[in-house]
Amino acid sequence: MLVLGLESSCDDCSAAVVEETAAGPVLRSLARESQDAIHGPFGGVVPELAAREHLLQVRAVIASALAQAGVKLEDLDRIAVTRGPGLVGSLLATFSASKALAWRHGIPWVGVHHLLGHLNAARFAAPDLPFPALVLLVSGGHTHLYLAKDWTSLHLLQKTRDDAAGEAFDKTARMLNLGYPGGPVVDACAQAAVRGGGRADLPFTPPKFRDGKASWSFSGLKTGVKLRIERNPRLAEAGASDPDVRGLCRSLQEAVTAWLLKPIPELAREHGARSLVISGGVACNSGLREGAARLAQREGLVLAIPEPRLCTDNGAMVGAAGALLDLDDDPWTQNADSDLKLEA
Ligand code: KG4
Ligand code: ZN
Repeated sequence: MLVLGLESSCDDCSAAVVEETAAGPVLRSLARESQDAIHGPFGGVVPELAAREHLLQVRAVIASALAQAGVKLEDLDRIAVTRGPGLVGSLLATFSASKALAWRHGIPWVGVHHLLGHLNAARFAAPDLPFPALVLLVSGGHTHLYLAKDWTSLHLLQKTRDDAAGEAFDKTARMLNLGYPGGPVVDACAQAAVRGGGRADLPFTPPKFRDGKASWSFSGLKTGVKLRIERNPRLAEAGASDPDVRGLCRSLQEAVTAWLLKPIPELAREHGARSLVISGGVACNSGLREGAARLAQREGLVLAIPEPRLCTDNGAMVGAAGALLDLDDDPWTQNADSDLKLEA
């Protein structure tokens, strides 16, 4: 089955051709237009600008994915597109374009939940993953832990109470004037600190929750970083090659990694999980990838983290998820939904 997967829920406009085979999904092409240069000066995604840019990018991105794969529209068995959640103006670009193409060419069409997409990004590397799986989805908008019984179901176990883990990276980079998005540059600084044998800054204190309920909180980290910069204002202008900036990034990355992974062993035992999936932009993080590898080995879990280009938002994950979903009887009445819920 040949699927065209489309994604534009935030600031990445992406299309991919995925071939679903008996052995799992095969990536035939992946096209993506970044909007980092547009949003960078604002230090975060500006929804109106993202929506407008997607409209300009969507046709070329689809054409590029088809051309790279050597596939014509009439060869497609299905078009899969992110239906939500996300920024509604952004979602509508690929959502509307895909419906128009599918209707015009008589191609079966299916809407996909963005988080099912992130889960299915792991299917490219681990098509035979043993279930149940713990699924940690970490990005600029999500820090959610799910239990999955297969590739199309996610049952929420816990989530952040405030900021997403990606925001801790983005806001730290912003305060240190390191650019946008923050994850890759903070990661590079942290790695440089480790390689250079430089000292980490003081560790960050993990949050405590009075109600004792399992969850995460990352908003305290940005306050923590802010206070450290207030105490040492030089950091804000010192740049990515400064040892103290690198030490601070290392401490931040170690805190995020440790906090994210902490609940996993107990929950894995409680739910009889056989595997751990980590996906979403923050799953690109080197510290998290290394920490998760150690944890998985210790706990006897099969670990599946997509290759970095499939961790961040992309059309391939939507194509891989869309290949497994039942087609809707009446797709043309469906609309994008910025607050789309997972089916229970
Ligand atoms: O999944 P994604 O592309 O978009 C959302 O759905 O949010 O994730 C983007 C997030 C940003 O916060 C970015 O800073 C973070 O992923 N990110 C990283 C790394 N690469 C991207 N965070 C930590 N380390 C990285 N290497
Ligand atoms: Zn995402």
